[in-house]
Order: sequence, then C-alpha cells, then structure tokens
Amino acid sequence: MAAARWRSAAVAAIAAAGPGGGGPGRALRSGSASEPVPMPLSGPVAPATAALYVHWPYCRKRCFYCSFNKYVVPAVDEAAMGACLVHEARTLLRLSQVQSVTSVFFGGGTPSLASPRTIAAVLEGVAGAVHLPAGTEITLEANPSSSDTQHLADFKAAGVNRLSIGVQSLNDAELRLLGREHTAAEARSTVEVARRLFPGRTSLDLIFGLPGQSQEAWTRGLEEALGLSDDHISLYQLTLERGTLLAAQVWGGALPTPTQDLLADMYQAARAVLVAAGFRHYEVSNFARKGALSTHNLSYWRAEQYIGVGPGAHGRFVPQGEGSCCREARVQTLEPDAWMQEVQSRGHGTRRRVVLSPLEQLEEVLVLGLRTDEGITHARWQHVSPHLSLEAVFGAPGEAKALQQQGWLVLDSNGLRCTWEGLAVLDSLLPDLLCQLQRCWAPPATPVHHTSGTVAAGP
Ligand SMILES: *[C@@H]1O[C@H](CO)[C@@H](O)[C@H](O)[C@H]1NC(C)=O
Ligand code: SF4
Repeated sequence: MAAARWRSAAVAAIAAAGPGGGGPGRALRSGSASEPVPMPLSGPVAPATAALYVHWPYCRKRCFYCSFNKYVVPAVDEAAMGACLVHEARTLLRLSQVQSVTSVFFGGGTPSLASPRTIAAVLEGVAGAVHLPAGTEITLEANPSSSDTQHLADFKAAGVNRLSIGVQSLNDAELRLLGREHTAAEARSTVEVARRLFPGRTSLDLIFGLPGQSQEAWTRGLEEALGLSDDHISLYQLTLERGTLLAAQVWGGALPTPTQDLLADMYQAARAVLVAAGFRHYEVSNFARKGALSTHNLSYWRAEQYIGVGPGAHGRFVPQGEGSCCREARVQTLEPDAWMQEVQSRGHGTRRRVVLSPLEQLEEVLVLGLRTDEGITHARWQHVSPHLSLEAVFGAPGEAKALQQQGWLVLDSNGLRCTWEGLAVLDSLLPDLLCQLQRCWAPPATPVHHTSGTVAAGP
C-alpha cells in the first residue's frame, strides 16, 4: 500500500517535470525510457517526527569572514518577524503532517539579538500546532556581545535549554582579525554565565586556520577554551568565502594563508587534545563528553526529516499533507522583507522545492552519515534502500573495498563508517564512494534519461 503510493507519486513528479527539462532542479540520474526506474518496492514511510530549524536573519555587524544569510538593518520589526516565523512554522508543520517535533534550533544571524519574548512566542506557536515533548532539546545560538546574564536567564524562561556560543577564539587579536564584535574577556564571562544557567548544555564554537595563526597558538587557545568549556565543542576550519573582507585581504596578499599541511596538523592536534580530555569525536566538527551530543544536529547527519523556517532556511521532509510520499529539499526565500511578504500572503516563503530521487536520498545518507563516528547503520540504509543493501554496494570489489583495505573505512555488522584516520580525510574519500554507489544503482549500460525533479513552489 505504501509502496504503491510511493511509486505513483515519484512517477507523477517525473512525468510532470517532463523530459530534458533544463530547469534549476537536480536531474534524477536514474531511469530510462525503456526500463523502469529502480525503485524500492516498499518505499520509506515518512515518520511523524521532524527536527525544526528557525532562522533569525539579523546581526548587529558583519563579521569579516561570514557568508551566512544575515542582514544588518537599522531597525528590526521584531513583532512582524516573530509572527511570520510562527505562521510559516505552522504552515510547514501542517504540510508535513508531523505529529511531534524532536528538537528546535534557533540559528542565524544572531538569534540572541531577538527578544526572549519572541523566542517564547515561536515555541508557543509550535507547541500549539504539534507535540513538543517536555525536555525536547531547544538550542539557541548566542553571541557573547548579546548575552548578558539577564538576557540568557530570560531565554531559559522562554524554554531554551541549550546554548551554542559563538566564542570563535579567546585571543583579542584573532577576534579583531575575524571582525567579531566581542572581546575574549566577554566570551569568557558569557560562557561562565551560560554554564551556570545551562549546566551540561552549553556548547562552544571555535575557529582554526586563521591567517598567520601558528600551530602553537591554536593548541594554546584550544587548551584555554577547554578549561572554560562545558561538555560540547564545535571546531570549524576557517573557509574564505567570496565577497567577504577577510577573503579579499588574503587573496589580495595582505594576509597569509595557512598551508594544507598546517591545517591538517591543527585538526589532528585538536582531536588528540579533546579526546584526551574525555570528549568523544562524534562528528567531523563536533566533540561531546558525558553524552552531551546535539540531538538536533544528529538528526541531520542521520538524514532524518527537518523543517526549516525563516529567511533562507533549508528543510528536508515529505509534504504528506498534499498527498506526497516523496522527500523534498526546500529552501525559503533569502531576503527577510520579501520572505515576510510571502509568509503574510500565502503562509510560507518556500522559494524552491526539489523532489529527491531515491539515489539522491542515498547520496545524502552516505555523505552525512559518514560524518559521524557511528556511521551509517544497516537499518538506516535499508530504510531508504530496501533492496540494495550496504554490503551489496560497498562490500563488492571496488573503491570502498580498497578504502577498507587501506584502513580508512569499516564495513561490519553495525554498518559502514570511517576509521579514526578516515574521519580526518572524509572529503577525499567521498568522491570514490559516490562513484561506486552511482554505478551500482544505475549500471552504465542503462541509457540515462534526464528529467528535472523540480516542482512548483506551492505549499
Ligand atoms: C547544527 O545545525 C544548525 C542548523 O540547524 C547549524 O546552524 C549549526 O551550525 C549546526 N551545528 C553544528 C555543531 O554542526
Ligand atoms: S554573528 Fe555570525 S551570522 Fe552574524 S555576521 Fe558574524 S558570523 Fe555572520
């Protein structure tokens, strides 16, 4: 029954898109005119749960490296933004027919600039529409410059129970180089306050690979952060993004770039320091001890459903409310005023929806799952691919086998995962693995018929 519904919806989406469509959607890379698309006979049934991401698009100032969807405006119409976030959340929750939300994450931008009343209103709006069980992880990203004790206590009263603090560095010269608004002393005191209010549920973000940063400076900074930290730390390598001041300075020759070797050494040293301090390296960029893993982010890496609301937010869910059984990738309109107008006029600001083909879903399961130390379990793979097992794809002679023999990858009774060494070089393993998956899924003899998977952006 589920199978028939799944199949017909997928076929309808392909048919509606028409052959050879040159639209913006990603092509469904499998299937041909003469042979049926290799679809699972018992398709995945969408669970009645999802994680919820809420995007607060405003910042007080632009950091020099930032390419996130954020806006610096003289005055924020907070009441309108809050009302639209609630409105869009309710629309998309209804569309997904999700019964229960498993985590909420307020990201940005700088959501700690929002008033705790607005955050409370969003949470009340969600709880009025679906089940939001007591104790659900509710994270807010906070910047040290907008997080005095009272403000953080008010977020807690609003329902937030986990903080992710954008410390980035504990060195004032580095913070100036990054264009951060806060000083190291402010970062320290914010973490101390946050830990008192959210014990065991405060995370720190740190950046490494800054222009001119030495290995010693990085390790020293990390040790210092460790002395301050709670049970969760996220480490990000600085990436230079087109259009940012920092990239212009580096590319213009005013600042040095770290070598790939230095970056790799910094990452390895950090892993060693954190693991020695009792942290589990549970995802490429994330470390936790005492089980303080982020539920919200784990649901991405496990390729579960998530709903994104707010300007530029991304989501992945099955719009069961319109009778579909296909997982879609969704992106909301980027610009806050345009997004608000769309939400006010049609209940949501979805700019783009793309139906994900079974192969594309498997690619996501692979690419995201391998980021975690647990890897991809057989059960999770089977949920998307009931008829082509993990062993059938990656146990056969080929790229994955070679990577296993070289000690980067393990395939066993738990599933497929990186070794300790493999996790550090995941990006270089993925192209081979994706190649092997694509080959197994659609053997080269099959003529390939491209169809666009994009559907109209209605609710
Ligand atoms: C967790 O997910 C949010 C989006 O929902 C993202 O903004 C954030 O960077 C992620 N955090 C980690 C630690 O990966
Ligand atoms: S606070 Fe965060 S989102 Fe805002 S500009 Fe800085 S890095 Fe970007």
